[in-house]
Amino acid sequence: MTRRRQHVPWKAAGSASESEHSADDVVRETGWVFNNQTGSDLSLADFVATGDNETVAYLQAFGLMDERVLHQTIVEIGSGIGRMTASFTRWFQKVVACDLDAAFLERCRETVAQFGQPDRLQTCHVADGRTLALPDDAADLVFSYITLQHCHHDDGLALAREAVRVTRAGGHIALNFRTWVAQDAVLWPTGKLVRATWRLPRVGPIIAQRRLTARLGWQANRLAPTEVLAALGESLTDVRIYRSPKRRSFNLPGVGDRTFEGVHRSHWWLVAEVR
Ligand SMILES: C[S@@+](CC[C@H](N)C(=O)[O-])C[C@H]1O[C@@H](n2cnc3c(N)ncnc32)[C@H](O)[C@@H]1O
Repeated sequence: MTRRRQHVPWKAAGSASESEHSADDVVRETGWVFNNQTGSDLSLADFVATGDNETVAYLQAFGLMDERVLHQTIVEIGSGIGRMTASFTRWFQKVVACDLDAAFLERCRETVAQFGQPDRLQTCHVADGRTLALPDDAADLVFSYITLQHCHHDDGLALAREAVRVTRAGGHIALNFRTWVAQDAVLWPTGKLVRATWRLPRVGPIIAQRRLTARLGWQANRLAPTEVLAALGESLTDVRIYRSPKRRSFNLPGVGDRTFEGVHRSHWWLVAEVR
């Protein structure tokens, strides 16, 4: 199987996480790849607390958080080491955590064992970066946060299609994407250059583990609502886009335009019911 360049920093962080002794050490060494926080006093408990706040805030904002979730299955695409997954297992009957990196999924199990409900967790290795090894109609909700922007453009769209495929009719998707902002005039070409260096023998893997270069290089795609909706539109109903109040409306006919303070200026969320 071809290893895509976009996979390099995640595999590098996954391998780094394997060599750490305790879950707190994993957070101190690699936690920044998930929530951008660094420090020698970080702990898994603090890390999970950041996820607890975000899951509930987003699901409430999207109108997807009520007592029905107690009987529902959620699929999380890009779970990492379980920052948000632990919280999901406390709310949902079943949680399927999917990630590109198998070491992250092992750590995710540990996180959920300490801070969630491990009997509700299933993991799913996204070995090719674009296919979910799950049956059709397996989920009531598919959720993905700060992940689809890190995939190859076509893999991001493929995973969005997979989200729809695995969601039952009447279920929902809540998918976070990143689109163009003015700073991309500089960030985008710099990121491309950094990604090219990841392939260099010997130094490439070292560069991929450095925080500054990883952050520049891992923004692998920009997907605008028009492009994603062109790929998924027919299979969705009650389509809403959530954006930052600081950014202008995407102005798409037939699509709900909602704002939420918690959304980053460069991000947008597609929230919709699957037909
Ligand atoms: C920035 S982290 C976000 C993790 C988690 N959603 C959170 O907020 O803590 C992105 C995650 O997406 C995973 N990822 C990147 N590309 C992927 C792909 N093509 N398929 C599945 N997971 C992917 C990475 O391994 C990483 O765990």
